[in-house]
Order: sequence, then C-alpha cells, then structure tokens
Amino acid sequence: MDEIARHNQAAWDKESRAGGPWSIPVSAKDIQRARAGDWHIILTPQRPVPSSWFDGNLAGRRILALAGSGGQQAPILAAAGADITVLDLSAEQLAHDRAVAEREGLRIRLEQGDMRDLSRFDDECFDLVVNPCSTMFVSDVRAVWREVARVLRPGGRLMTGLANPALFLFGDTRLGDDGLTLRYPLPVRGDEGRCREDALTLGEPFQFSHTLTDLIAGQLQAHLQIIDFYEDGWDDADLPLTAFFPPFFATLASKIR
Ligand SMILES: C[S@@+](CC[C@H](N)C(=O)[O-])C[C@H]1O[C@@H](n2cnc3c(N)ncnc32)[C@H](O)[C@@H]1O
Repeated sequence: MDEIARHNQAAWDKESRAGGPWSIPVSAKDIQRARAGDWHIILTPQRPVPSSWFDGNLAGRRILALAGSGGQQAPILAAAGADITVLDLSAEQLAHDRAVAEREGLRIRLEQGDMRDLSRFDDECFDLVVNPCSTMFVSDVRAVWREVARVLRPGGRLMTGLANPALFLFGDTRLGDDGLTLRYPLPVRGDEGRCREDALTLGEPFQFSHTLTDLIAGQLQAHLQIIDFYEDGWDDADLPLTAFFPPFFATLASKIR
C-alpha cells in the first residue's frame, strides 16, 4: 500500500467512526421498501440515480459497489435482488455493510482493497460497477478506469459520481478563509505542498482534482463509452462555493464490446 492509500484508509476509518453522511447505514424500512421494488441510490451528494440507468430488473445481476461501502448503496442493491460485492479501502466503512447485512439477512460479499487494483476479480465477471464519488481519493484515476473495463463484461455498465475539478480551486471556511478565495492551482495533488498541509490540518483524506480529460476522455480511452450524464449540487456549509454551481456530476458508460 502506498502512502496515499495508507493515509486515506486511516482518514476514512476516522470519518466512518464519526458517522458522517457517507457512513450512515440505511434503515430497516429502506430495506423493506427495496425488497418490494421501491428503492434508489445516490452517486453524488443529493440526486438519485435515474432508474433507467439500471436497465431493468436487478435480480441476479453481478454488481460491484466500488469504493461504495458505508452501509448504503450495497445493502439497497442486495435487497433489490442483485448479487453484490463491495470493495472499499476502509475497514470501518465495510463494517457498516456487514452490520446491515447481518441485521437484514442480506448476502453482501465484502472486500477490503484499493480501487486501482481489482486483480482479485476475474476478467468480465461483473455486469455493472456502481462507483459513488470516490475517485478524488486516488492519484491515478485512469488506473481505475482500466481495471473497471477489465472486470466488466462487454456491454456491462459503469456508473460513477465525479467532482467537477473546479470544486478544488477554493478553500474551506475551516481553514480560516471565506471559502471563495482561489487557493489551489489545478490539477490539485492532495499529497503535495499546501494541499497536503491543509488535509493534515483538517485530518482529512488527500484528494486529487484530476482533469476533465482524465475523468471523461480517460473513460472513453479505456473503452467505456459514456451514454448519459447529470450534474448535482451540494449544501456543505464549509464550502460556500457549492451555492454557486453544481460541483458534482455523474456519468453512465457502457463497455464497448
Ligand atoms: C464518499 S464515500 C462513498 C461511499 C458512500 N457510501 C456514499 O454515500 O456514497 C467514499 C468511499 O471511498 C472509499 N475509498 C477512498 N479511497 C479508496 C481507495 N483507494 N480504494 C477503495 N475505496 C476507497 C472510502 O473508504 C469511502 O467509503
């Protein structure tokens, strides 16, 4: 494991223990509704994924929830009938999925690992990869796209939540500025310079803005053909910028045969 993964694993374990928004397990009622066919998940902070993105019934579909732990997406998809595996760096995040699975009698395969390395999975072994916002925690997003393309069957889909790189230009009110001051030149590398110092001050993961080229062309060049897109807002009080533009987006891609 490299320094970034080690740091981010500890930071996510801490975040998960603190019970942040990405680590609040779904309720028994949510699971009951999902079993009855009434469910949704998110990839970005607020907007539900359109049901058309799932292309029909989930029964028996082999889904990988990539960096998707925290007791949210994986239990819902399992209750909706999917054959689900979740891979995440954080043991604490995975513990939330384990707890919901035990509580609700759901089968969820749990794997602790780094999303850049899916070598434990065979080629073409998944129908769908569901990846909530998380690629900002790795320095090489193209490695993720390559691995996703390898584990998807031809025609299989990737849905991923992404941060608009512009989100990373500005500071955070917890750092003592107004959150609207240009602070970091793009592309941001969270493990270097001022970004690194700020992450350490806040006790947060190292983050990487990537470029739109790596986020979009990177998928296309990995044979993941983008077929749909939406944007989403956020209301984080520490980031006033989020009142001015939708800082997140999601893409749906199909692996070209
Ligand atoms: C914003 S959360 C997304 C999951 C969450 N359930 C949600 O609400 O959308 C980001 C997740 O990425 C995971 N993560 C961060 N770096 C990772 C890496 N290199 N490989 C795998 N998972 C990683 C974190 O542990 C965390 O569970």
